[in-house]
Amino acid sequence: SSGTDRELRAPICCILGHVDAGKTKLLDCIRHSNVQGGEAGGITQQIGATYLPAENIRERTSLKAEATIKVPGLLVIDTPGHQSFSNMHLRGSSLCDVAVVVVDITQGLEKQTIESIGLLKRRNVKFVVALNKVDRLYGWKTCPNAPIVKALKSQSDDVQREFKWRVAEVVTQLKDCGFNSALYYENKKIKEVVNIVPTSAVSGEGIPDLLLLLVRWVPEIMMEKLTYVDTVECTVLEINEVKEFGTTIDVVLINGALKKGDQIIVCTKQGPVTTSIRHLLTPYPLKELRAKQGSYERHEELKAAQGVKIVARGVQHALAGTSLIVVKPGHDLEQAEAAAMQEIYNAISLSNENERGKNEDETAIKEISRIQTCKEGVYVQASSLGTLEAIIEHLKTLSLNVPVSGCNLGPVHKQDVMKATAMLKRKEEYAAILAFDVKVMPEAFELAVESGVKIFIADTVYKLVDIFTDYIKKLKE
Ligand code: GTP
Ligand code: NA
Ligand code: MG
Repeated sequence: SSGTDRELRAPICCILGHVDAGKTKLLDCIRHSNVQGGEAGGITQQIGATYLPAENIRERTSLKAEATIKVPGLLVIDTPGHQSFSNMHLRGSSLCDVAVVVVDITQGLEKQTIESIGLLKRRNVKFVVALNKVDRLYGWKTCPNAPIVKALKSQSDDVQREFKWRVAEVVTQLKDCGFNSALYYENKKIKEVVNIVPTSAVSGEGIPDLLLLLVRWVPEIMMEKLTYVDTVECTVLEINEVKEFGTTIDVVLINGALKKGDQIIVCTKQGPVTTSIRHLLTPYPLKELRAKQGSYERHEELKAAQGVKIVARGVQHALAGTSLIVVKPGHDLEQAEAAAMQEIYNAISLSNENERGKNEDETAIKEISRIQTCKEGVYVQASSLGTLEAIIEHLKTLSLNVPVSGCNLGPVHKQDVMKATAMLKRKEEYAAILAFDVKVMPEAFELAVESGVKIFIADTVYKLVDIFTDYIKKLKE
């Protein structure tokens, strides 16, 4: 086909990079929001999807009315930088079309940056580098929201010199990772050489450049992949407890459309679960799909690409990272369930291989739950599957190596405390519940006090693990 009449979907763009490189702040700058300011400890602990409509991109980039934007928008996925959230890096990078790797210009490539680039390389995902925090260069003169070339022109010779050598440093580091790179406005081979876009998430220099580059370069390198098709392609990103709806699943609809009432199949370790979509929700445009945001827009139908919150019965054990399958009227349910079984089988066998450290390339293709429980260990409770996994991962990497005997999503109920009491006779120090971002029900609290189960609560996964390990250390003294 000529390419003029085809309908394109929004490209899915994952933001990766080291802790505090400015991933969330960059998105805030684009959205005119302040998600970063509201994060506990300034740390991202959720994977979030934001839809940026083309009109907003046009406005931010001061594109002339006659200039076309080929894509309807961008679906941007923010990830936490910290290593404990490697599950989210894997999920984000496995479903995105392209990535933005955020690098702090004053730090260069850091540990998590290099890991992210490694992931993208293995999956053959194209990326651009946002060389962020240019306003931190000593003596930088702020030019709010200016295109980067213009902003650089108004800097002193000293600033320009520092800028140049810092860019050269990053180019060398990227070379060590196996990539040729260049400042995007000097890049003559945009298909082979990685584009570097200098930005400031605080004063907005380079933001128009980054957005323009994404909406122009992405359709150019992957027109075929971005062509909208009716066949549903949809991946489960997160399982969340939301007050007014109960258990919900956050999915990324990569292609096709979802309708309220659609019969769907989700994958669980126990097998496929067939259910139907009760509510189809999205955050309002430019708002982020995350847990407990409060207000959602309800839809009858949604077309890809979108971040969607689905309310349905029986989805609490859905495996993040697996496909959600839609059974269209007239389709064979048995066949669809068989496809789901295959999906579960692949996911589980890949994760087992992962445990043995084998076949790394293949395991990188799909990331499912790494939750492994032991007979003796603490009980972990969190508001989302992603944070649950991050806590368990974090506990594992400590020198103490705290095992986990059980876990659950959502508020701490009496039954959870009951389960934790089992440790009182086996290993008393593990008779504990580590609760992240969840309510403790009064009856649960009472039972904990009566029985001697300790409940630990904190607003970041690191603090939660820290207060627990301090407690264990004190016991051992
Ligand atoms: P994690 O999600 O925790 O990995 O961090 P992040 O990469 O999302 O970084 P975040 O947006 O939380 O920013 C970290 C800190 O850097 C915050 O204090 C921001 O205000 C600051 N920051 C981010 N971008 C810029 C920038 O361009 N210039 C300056 N001066 N500060 C920035
Ligand atoms: Na941060
Ligand atoms: Mg962040």
